[in-house]
Amino acid sequence: MKRIITYGTFDLLHYGHINLLCRAKKHGDYLIAAVSTDEFNWNSKQKKCYFDYERRKILLESIRYVDLVIPEGSWEQKIEDIKKYHIDTFVIGDDWKGEFDFLKEYCEVVYLERTPEISTTQIKNELNKQN
Ligand code: CTP
Repeated sequence: MKRIITYGTFDLLHYGHINLLCRAKKHGDYLIAAVSTDEFNWNSKQKKCYFDYERRKILLESIRYVDLVIPEGSWEQKIEDIKKYHIDTFVIGDDWKGEFDFLKEYCEVVYLERTPEISTTQIKNELNKQN
């Protein structure tokens, strides 16, 4: 069984996220989504989520492509996760291209093309404009 992992915040789940998860799953049989915790988002990415971690986790667990959701609480946990879950392939959007090449020592690393013209930030900005 080929095991895939991907990382992200996945706030205000949108079709760009679903498209990423769908294509990630096609690289193997079992997909783990590591979802940033609220603390990690705030402390490391200066991001305040609309949906808290528990809600984002429930949403991702309900997607057919996702087999397991785990928390992402630090930048450094990736190597440990790859070993712990016997990961074959690390997948992430190409906004991160090159950033995770150091993981190639542990597994295959794949950058997928981002879906154009959609992001959580864009949704938030559009909604703010309307109010
Ligand atoms: N992603 C994608 N296409 C998009 C938006 C996101 O493929 N249009 C991918 C990202 O590259 C990442 C995953 O989905 O691998 C989770 O991205 P996340 O940062 O949570 O979503 P964004 O919509 O990019 O959020 P933000 O605007 O806050 O950066």
